[in-house]
Amino acid sequence: MDFSLTEEHIMIRDAARDFAQTELLPGVIERDNAQTFPDELVRKMGELGFMGIMVDPKYGGSGMDAISYVLIMEELSKIDASASVMVSVNNSLVCYGLEAFGTEEQKQKYLTKLATGEQLGAFCLSEPEAGSDATSQKTTAIDKGDHYIINGTKNWITNGGRADTYLVIAQTDRDKGHRGINAFILEKGMPGFDIGPKEDKLGIRGSDTHTLQFNDVKVPKENRIGEDGFGFKFAMKTLSGGRIGIAAQALGIASGAYELALKYSKERKAFGTEICNHQAIAFKLADMYTEIEAARHLVMKAAWEKDQGNNYDMASAMAKLYASKVAMEQTVEAVQIHGGNGFVKEYHVERLMRDAKITQIYEGTSEIQKIVISRGVIKG
Ligand code: CAA
Repeated sequence: MDFSLTEEHIMIRDAARDFAQTELLPGVIERDNAQTFPDELVRKMGELGFMGIMVDPKYGGSGMDAISYVLIMEELSKIDASASVMVSVNNSLVCYGLEAFGTEEQKQKYLTKLATGEQLGAFCLSEPEAGSDATSQKTTAIDKGDHYIINGTKNWITNGGRADTYLVIAQTDRDKGHRGINAFILEKGMPGFDIGPKEDKLGIRGSDTHTLQFNDVKVPKENRIGEDGFGFKFAMKTLSGGRIGIAAQALGIASGAYELALKYSKERKAFGTEICNHQAIAFKLADMYTEIEAARHLVMKAAWEKDQGNNYDMASAMAKLYASKVAMEQTVEAVQIHGGNGFVKEYHVERLMRDAKITQIYEGTSEIQKIVISRGVIKG
């Protein structure tokens, strides 16, 4: 067993850390307030290879492993979880889905642009009445021979407004249940494809979240991913990897808040000494550090399982369940250590606390992760 990072891993982590400090930190509070994220920063993340981290270089990707992916995700998330969710969705839900299950034509047409960051992707599974219960798809895709006609609504779609390529899950044959679900590649601007207003959110406010509406959208048959009826398994397999990305995001939010709290506790004085010298604060730091390290081990283990080609469904669910819990709890502690300043935007920890919450909800709530883990445990 070897817990050390390779030189390449350290280099990639440092590049992401440097980018986060120099490019993401300035303006992060303003972006959160205004609910914006400039295209320029997305372009820069593409240039650094962050938008197609694990994609084969022959499709424009960086050809790195899942460990590199989580290292990048952690560093970006320490500063700006709105940036890192764009990276996560584009990498593990869209690029991975296309690379693993798409045809060569689909990869040439879409993946090559998504992996370089020239285009951005969105993953459209959730619906007003199908969030956790993902097999209950109401969006329909009717087979018309050489094309499908798609009708329905998708909710809470990350990159919903700014994406160019959308992977959309829809029900083709209701009698077949989840085996009658398909996944399709849609392009922005297809007639009948409407983007609804942006959601006003508690956290990750720089990230662009929309409802999408499909009214008789005509999608060519060659845009279906995989065999007829593969759509639900496509979504599940893709989300397993996505959960590693969100677990790494949660880890980054927690460790970002911890680093700020540690620094603050060494500067702020109360009762004649720096507050880290008071056991009430020192013990909080000890708990935070320990729990973050435990989360890091689960996140790294899940990435390692993926890199080994092993099944990582349970490992990714455990990593997301635990890291998101740590993110929520430890960002609250970071605010507490900051006292009154923790409640003020310029100290950053209140934003990290707000951002932490979504990691317990998207790409499968904590309750869904427990379903995946418990089924795995019982099955043996
Ligand atoms: N890999 C491959 N196949 C899988 C699978 C996996 N990981 N998980 C399930 N399946 C298969 C099952 O084997 C089964 O197929 P068969 O009947 O042929 O064997 C089929 O899928 C249905 O599985 P279940 O019977 O387990 O289905 P279920 O209704 O009990 O639901 C669930 C399972 C785990 C609860 C699933 O519905 C789920 O994960 N729900 C949460 C959905 C989710 O994560 N949504 C997030 C939205 S995306 C998002 O947030 C993106 C963003 O923008 C940030």
